[in-house]
Amino acid sequence: MIGIALALGLILLGLLLYWQLVIAEGTYLGPRVVTLLYDWSARAYERIKQFDVGAEQWFLGIPLARALELIPAPLVLDVATGTGRLPRALLRQPSFRGHVIGLDLSRRMLCEAVRRTAQFADRLTFVWQDACHLPFDDDTFDGVTCLEALEFTPNPRAVLAELVRVLRPGGVLLVTNRVGRDAKFLPGRAFPRDEFEHLLREFPLEEVKVRPWQVDYDLAWAVKAGTPQGGGVRPLEEILRCPACGGRLNRETGPFRCTGCNRVYPIAEDGVVEIARAL
Ligand SMILES: C[S@@+](CC[C@H](N)C(=O)[O-])C[C@H]1O[C@@H](n2cnc3c(N)ncnc32)[C@H](O)[C@@H]1O
Repeated sequence: MIGIALALGLILLGLLLYWQLVIAEGTYLGPRVVTLLYDWSARAYERIKQFDVGAEQWFLGIPLARALELIPAPLVLDVATGTGRLPRALLRQPSFRGHVIGLDLSRRMLCEAVRRTAQFADRLTFVWQDACHLPFDDDTFDGVTCLEALEFTPNPRAVLAELVRVLRPGGVLLVTNRVGRDAKFLPGRAFPRDEFEHLLREFPLEEVKVRPWQVDYDLAWAVKAGTPQGGGVRPLEEILRCPACGGRLNRETGPFRCTGCNRVYPIAEDGVVEIARAL
């Protein structure tokens, strides 16, 4: 009897761990666990994903470059950039002559991203920071993207609000929503297709389109409402904001320093702006 109870207990524990660590990738255990899991798997990530260059161009690079084609040098933010999948797909497009900022909370994923995007280094900046507190001014980017990541953040609605905040009116939003078999094990993180569309419509967005993409993800496109203004590549000093106090970040040589609270944000040897490592 005790043996059976023990075996059942072990099976339940195994199922619980499989749900929390494999299906949910730590999302209910907090950003530290999610980041730890991505730090551990960073070297293997692209081997596991097996991205197909043609499909990446067709579904991501080409349509995004086309959506931004009226802006001579667009500024794009890729939130939860991972190993730099979206920056690569976009920067490969000859018609895209802009700059991409890739942001992620896993420093090891960013190490991989730097390594895998070396050929585009002069048109790409990586920032180590949490998607929940984007260190940028309102209405800044011509395009904001976030692929296969919302469901791993503690509050996808709050992250969506951040993505929309930093997008300029007339700018393009490209995000994914988890669907498929495992989505039902991600309550509060993944949304049924029509619910996700309604959620996007709660924000100042128009031309919202949610389309099936991969087995596990829908792809959503939208445009930020309002009179199109600004746009184009700008220096980091102009757009970075201190996530702690909202102050402007200045840099002469060396790290960024907040003009409000004096926090220092280092720039690592590989060029990554380490906002998450405030000194
Ligand atoms: C499945 S990967 C997707 C990476 C990339 N967008 C892609 O499509 O290949 C999820 C990424 O989200 C990042 N991530 C998870 N939670 C995050 C957060 N709160 N802030 C920033 N990045 C986060 C992880 O570190 C990981 O790189």
